[in-house]
Amino acid sequence: MGSWTPTKLSALKGKQKITCVAAYDYAMARILDEVGIQLILVGDSLAMTVLGYKNTLPVSMEDMLRHTAAVVRGVTNALVVADMPFLSYQVSEEQALLNAGRFIKEAGAGAVKLEGGAIRAPLVRRLVENGIPVLGHIGLTPQSVGVIGGYKVQGRVRKEAAGLMADARALEKAGAFALIVECVPAAVGEGITRLVRIPTIGIGAGPSCDGQILVAHDMLGMYSDLTPRFARRYADLGRLMKQAFAEYRKEVETGKFPGPENVY
Ligand code: KIV
Repeated sequence: MGSWTPTKLSALKGKQKITCVAAYDYAMARILDEVGIQLILVGDSLAMTVLGYKNTLPVSMEDMLRHTAAVVRGVTNALVVADMPFLSYQVSEEQALLNAGRFIKEAGAGAVKLEGGAIRAPLVRRLVENGIPVLGHIGLTPQSVGVIGGYKVQGRVRKEAAGLMADARALEKAGAFALIVECVPAAVGEGITRLVRIPTIGIGAGPSCDGQILVAHDMLGMYSDLTPRFARRYADLGRLMKQAFAEYRKEVETGKFPGPENVY
């Protein structure tokens, strides 16, 4: 298939489900690329999963640039999308364009993602007109956690669901190549997917979306002991890592490591 581009991914709508993962480093990117994951999002969830912040707000442009560049170095085929951090695109269109451009020019990303619906449409249009592909993100938008009052399912009432539909249409019209739809009832995920001609990538948005995205650390049991309802734990690496590190410690303490094969 060759390298994935925003245009090629958009063309999968209705033909093949799209598989996406949020990941943040070279080693993980290589593995994801090898198994054919089409899109790797260097999500601002980096703030929580890797940097240990309580939410996504503190992560900086420099943090995101460094991790995006690391992921780009690990891939051959996957499309790498850089998540624009809080306040890197909200202050002015000029600043947003410059920051989005840094992800493309300095880090080698293939596209950027930003949160928000119709309110972001003029900015999305401006970025696309200037050659920067944009992945939209609607529904639960974690950078607004303070305003929406926590990590809650969005679009449960009819008026909210209608607002999400309007958001999706506005971003599509502005030129977004796909849309992340986060934490909405499955029926709303389905409605948005039917409404727009660009792919919807769901996370807690039901099985009808054109693709799915999960955070690698949730899939692998590496962030918290609890798996969010929308995720599935495909491996318990957290437990395996604990076992391995504990065994190493024991072997060092008992003199079993290093063994003869580890010695020059
Ligand atoms: O930051 C992130 O990882 C994300 C995904 C959960 C969609 O925005």
